Amino acid sequence: YKRVTTKSLVEMKSQGEKIAMLTAYDYTMAKIVDGAGIDVILVGDSASNVMAGHETTLPITLDQMIYHAASVIRAVHRALVVVDLPFGSYQSDPKEALRSAIRIMKESGGHAVKLEGGKEIKDSVKRILHAGIPVMGHLGLTPQSIYKFGTYTVRAKEEAEAAKLKADALMLEKAGCFALVLEKVPAKLAQEVAESLTIPVIGIGAGNGVDGQVLVTHDMIGMTHEFNPRFLRRYLDLYTEMTSAFEKYRDDVKSRDFPSDEEQY
Ligand code: KIV
Ligand code: NA
Repeated sequence: YKRVTTKSLVEMKSQGEKIAMLTAYDYTMAKIVDGAGIDVILVGDSASNVMAGHETTLPITLDQMIYHAASVIRAVHRALVVVDLPFGSYQSDPKEALRSAIRIMKESGGHAVKLEGGKEIKDSVKRILHAGIPVMGHLGLTPQSIYKFGTYTVRAKEEAEAAKLKADALMLEKAGCFALVLEKVPAKLAQEVAESLTIPVIGIGAGNGVDGQVLVTHDMIGMTHEFNPRFLRRYLDLYTEMTSAFEKYRDDVKSRDFPSDEEQY
């Protein structure tokens, strides 16, 4: 295998090869995702929801993100590993943002960081990039701002917000970001943004006109079952499968079927 780099992702876009990205927060899952040939693994702050059971991404801390990222890095041989800077670790000022990004790179071994937002975080993005740390942007529905938006519905349907998103995307490319996530925006707008940039645009709920796709792994394998947005394709129904397995195990223990003679010493 050849390692995926920020450079190879930009080449994939120029050659028309779509980029496949998934989340992972732990060693065991990251090993499976990497072994399957997924190009980019995101240690998303969605760990706040998926791993810790919080309602939003806001509570997860930088220390917790570093723990997740270090676990993922130990498993990965091929994929590019991108780590979310969590809420509160970069919004104050560019120095804080750089300090947080440096902690992720040094303490987890991650390959790049992702920050939510456009021109509001321009100076922080530049500061991090100047230190040699690759940055992935994230526009559209940015869950760290959920209390500003008020809902998780599709973003940038109005012309003013669409125009700001386009300007922010161009700014992030000019600043030096190697890629951009667009979350829950109209497909037509996402395609326009992807066509106007040379860096890859990775979509989630952003249609098929972008340069790659990302999903939360636990959602796409059906381990979670309460979250059912239109953009989510479920490749497995693990919630049901795992429930059956646990019930079977419970019954086997209760009935003394497990362990059998062959399963003991
Ligand atoms: O945290 C996350 O999982 C994300 C993706 C949904 C893009 O940011
Ligand atoms: Na995230």
